[in-house]
Amino acid sequence: MTERKPDRQSGLLGGLQATTRAQGRGEPKIGVDEFMSVAERFGFSPATLAKIRAAAEAEDMGEGPFLANYYAKLPETKVQAMERVAREMFGVKYAIALSSGTGALHSAFVAAGVGPGTEVICPAIGFFATAAAVVQSNGVPIFCDVDESLHMDPTKIEALITPRTVAIAPTHVMGGVANMEAIVAVARKHNLRVVEDVAQSCGGTYKGKWVGTWGDLGCFSISAYKIVGGGEGGLLITDEERLWERANGLAECGGLWRPVRFAPPRYEGELYCGTNYRLSELEAAVDVVQLQRMPETVARFRAVKRQVLEGLKTYREITPQLLNDPDGEVGYRVRFSRKPSNWEPRS
Ligand SMILES: Cc1ncc(COP(=O)(O)O)c(C=O)c1O
Repeated sequence: MTERKPDRQSGLLGGLQATTRAQGRGEPKIGVDEFMSVAERFGFSPATLAKIRAAAEAEDMGEGPFLANYYAKLPETKVQAMERVAREMFGVKYAIALSSGTGALHSAFVAAGVGPGTEVICPAIGFFATAAAVVQSNGVPIFCDVDESLHMDPTKIEALITPRTVAIAPTHVMGGVANMEAIVAVARKHNLRVVEDVAQSCGGTYKGKWVGTWGDLGCFSISAYKIVGGGEGGLLITDEERLWERANGLAECGGLWRPVRFAPPRYEGELYCGTNYRLSELEAAVDVVQLQRMPETVARFRAVKRQVLEGLKTYREITPQLLNDPDGEVGYRVRFSRKPSNWEPRS
């Protein structure tokens, strides 16, 4: 009897075999070393890092994570979770998680119709990014004076409105909140959009309503320096689908966000030249936890501020900053103005 040679076709006698699952240990593109690099950034001690590495190496990571919002084989990516939590937290229909507050403002202004030949009324005190995002959108910022609260003075807005004005962009500064009722009233009277810059006051409320939800679009910075934020990020919220779509267009390369990205425009003006302000999955993983903890963080700020103010009851030489809503402000700063004009030294 002649001995049969292994058959490379059939798998009989040691040839190739059909298999239903990948065999062997995965060597993912993003694996344990990348994970450890994140753990190091959290500042764990060398001993703890060694334990984490041992636990991570014991796990077969398969093909490893795909750290992007698109095409991830997950029920919900961290970016999607961030957007869901933002919608639930602020009670709005739409949220976009972005790479920075500046990106959120730029997307919001373009969504609101800012472009060549338009003007946006911005406060005289705030941060560079608000006016810069107007310029980035090819509009012109027009500065409105602030009142003693250091927020946009609603009584000074009307004098600045021209046929070119398309939006008013109040900034809530240093944990404070702007007088949104009065600002929105002026905007509605003149058919203008309101873009709120909430970068410094995430979690603040005016008359019991979150700042960021008074206007047409609310923009937050989710950077390390802010009330919510791990490293660098941003957030945009709105209740209007068309504003959300337009903001997404700017933030997502024109049309990447669409249900069928290569489809022709579904309405006139849907497609235009966008850019990329996508939030990274790693950043979103941190930010989504922080956003959920925001009410707790804000409550702590408020409690500490109350304590400080209670300890200052007897002063009379300085005036505390005017607050548009003392219960609604976040309260991580206590500010005073210089002595009032009727001030006299203590005898
Ligand atoms: C009022 C205000 N608007 C916008 C921004 C810009 O945010 P980001 O640094 O995330 O771009 C900041 C950041 O400091 C800010 O304070």
